[in-house]
Amino acid sequence: MTLLVLGSGGREHAITAALAKNPRVTKIYAAPGNGGIAALAECVPIAATDLENIRAFALEHGVDFAVPAADDPLVAGAVDVLEDAGIACFGPSRAAAAIEGSKVFSKNLMKKYNIPTAAYEVFESAGAAMRYLDTHETYPLVIKADGLALGKGVIIVQTRREAKEAISDIMEKQKFGASGSRVVIEEFLTGPEVSVLSFMDGETVVPMLSSMDHKRALDGDRGLNTGGMGVVAPNPCYTPEIAARCMEEIYMPTLRAMNAEGRPFKGCLYFGLMLTARGPKVIEYNCRFGDPEAQAMLPLLDTDLLDIFMAVREGRLGGLSIQWKNKHACCVILASGGYPEKYGTGYPIAFGDTGGALLYHAGTKLVDGTLVTSGGRVLGVTALGENLEEAIAGAYAAADEITFANAFCRKDIGAQALEYLA
Ligand code: AMP
Ligand code: GLY
Repeated sequence: MTLLVLGSGGREHAITAALAKNPRVTKIYAAPGNGGIAALAECVPIAATDLENIRAFALEHGVDFAVPAADDPLVAGAVDVLEDAGIACFGPSRAAAAIEGSKVFSKNLMKKYNIPTAAYEVFESAGAAMRYLDTHETYPLVIKADGLALGKGVIIVQTRREAKEAISDIMEKQKFGASGSRVVIEEFLTGPEVSVLSFMDGETVVPMLSSMDHKRALDGDRGLNTGGMGVVAPNPCYTPEIAARCMEEIYMPTLRAMNAEGRPFKGCLYFGLMLTARGPKVIEYNCRFGDPEAQAMLPLLDTDLLDIFMAVREGRLGGLSIQWKNKHACCVILASGGYPEKYGTGYPIAFGDTGGALLYHAGTKLVDGTLVTSGGRVLGVTALGENLEEAIAGAYAAADEITFANAFCRKDIGAQALEYLA
């Protein structure tokens, strides 16, 4: 089989590595891919969102199965375009990807179908949002741009003044472009966060292992929000009792809601949950694997990923038994100094003895045979262990062996999970 993976991050590297294990796979293309994916796939310089050229490339090169793995091609309708051209895909249609592509859509869906989430209001103009803030007294509040914003469109504000600044940035100054033409203002929730990625085929939902991302740039959950600085899996806060409650109150109701709306979801649905004192609530949905969650979860998967993807597409998920290793994983992100704001690129990367760790490239590229940095998140370093401590120690030991100019990583990935276990 010839495969095509769309995207260029660590998630796409982890997905490509898992797909490459299937003996029927003879060729993988990645568009655009990166310096690490290049070891497994032929990288082609087409943007993942350039759907016209992706379609033409896939037809010309006999692609049998495509995996649009990143949010923007999915939200733009990559699956519709490719399936219409006769190319099988893993991933939601454009209509179903709106569950991530529009926060207004997802919040209204949750309200309509009684899926627990933070209380909220939607605003279509800066004026209306400002008038609401004039009489609103309780802070913090959470302000979210409606559309995709690289994980940066969520602003937590402590005062009315900050709230008005955020509205002005998003709606008047259009900091996130058209993504900010509408905003959601919602209640601030507290509690441990859990990422639960699931396979869904419109009929069955199979949650994967739980995980815990670390979204802030700096130790102790300080600094700006990022795409994610590290992950541990499974997440010890997510007990079997909570899992059962989520299945009943969140996962199945979401599957049924999407069907009722005529937008059946097929693919990986990511539930970003907060375990509040009043039960688990949905913070966000993503229509794809998390990044870096995928880099911690997929090494723990014992069932062939391509077989699962094909079963999801064909509506056979219910007949599949998906197995996970009885181990723990930790993924630490090595980032460029300055990320998630301004940072330099083009620095050579040197590797010492990283032992058995798995290295997933996120922002790297090959220049004349030399691997150099090309993004904010540069590498994801994953180690497995018999317990969480072992996985964390393994990931940090390997991360210490990798050097490039201005590299930094959070030193406390997994610390909160360990505290919870203590
Ligand atoms: P999102 O991109 O929607 O996942 O939001 C990014 C991060 O902002 C989440 O991982 C949470 O840490 C935080 N966040 C989002 N919504 C809320 C909320 N209603 N209450 C508290 N924190 C939130
Ligand atoms: N790690 C969070 C996300 O992929 O959205």
